[in-house]
Amino acid sequence: ILGAAVLLCMADVLHAFAIEEKGDVFRRTDCPAFLVFDSAAYLADMTFELPCKCKPEEVSEVVWYFQKEMGSHQTRVLTDLAGTVIVDSAHVQAGSDVLKRFSLRMFSLIVFRAQVTDSGHYICGTKKGEYFSGYDVDVQPTEHITVAFLDRGQHVQDDVQAKLFSLFTTFWDWTVCDRCGVRGEQRRIGLCYVQSNWLNPRYRTTLPNVTSCGSRAVPARLQHIGHLRQPEVAIRSCLTPCPK
Ligand SMILES: *[C@@H]1O[C@H](CO)[C@@H](O)[C@H](O)[C@H]1NC(C)=O
Repeated sequence: ILGAAVLLCMADVLHAFAIEEKGDVFRRTDCPAFLVFDSAAYLADMTFELPCKCKPEEVSEVVWYFQKEMGSHQTRVLTDLAGTVIVDSAHVQAGSDVLKRFSLRMFSLIVFRAQVTDSGHYICGTKKGEYFSGYDVDVQPTEHITVAFLDRGQHVQDDVQAKLFSLFTTFWDWTVCDRCGVRGEQRRIGLCYVQSNWLNPRYRTTLPNVTSCGSRAVPARLQHIGHLRQPEVAIRSCLTPCPK
């Protein structure tokens, strides 16, 4: 039930900031006083865009940082030096594919065909190390994805209830019918989400106490729970008239 009520879009999740707008610092930049991470979840192979949300007006160039874990010493700089270049602050990645999968457009970072290993913190800021806004990105694996053909009486996964948390699926919108005039097919992707009172408050989520299963907001002692559930796809038939 809860899953159905969750909206995946990350728009307007600003209610968390009591501190905002207090004091000059914030009026100028619209950034929260300390870095928080907006949670975002995707399925492997998806392409997504992360806007740099609260960049001060006078900043004309941003740099994106990638951090596997909070406070990790291995911070990779994803930057755009005349095109798409990634500079690894520790050592340059050997594989060239990673170089092609990130791109900066204006102040947004675009991640093409994200991999599970791309999960982590993405932070936009300046070369000097000022941080403006951050994301906690959870890329969920497709290997063990479950598929439910609803027309054949198959069901999506049941919610999992435990003492400290519950797990459920949050579905994206149905895709448009893949044919017209004849019976076609629609699908919707469902990602694993967790509800718990023990999430790290440093992370900002659309619903209170709810985040995706692979999020870093999930405390270490609960991080195994992601393995209890897989992302899923629901498929149903559809019939839409063809445009005249
Ligand atoms: C969220 O968790 C906190 C404890 O961390 C609890 O006090 C609060 O009631 C919870 N809110 C909801 C909506 O479940």
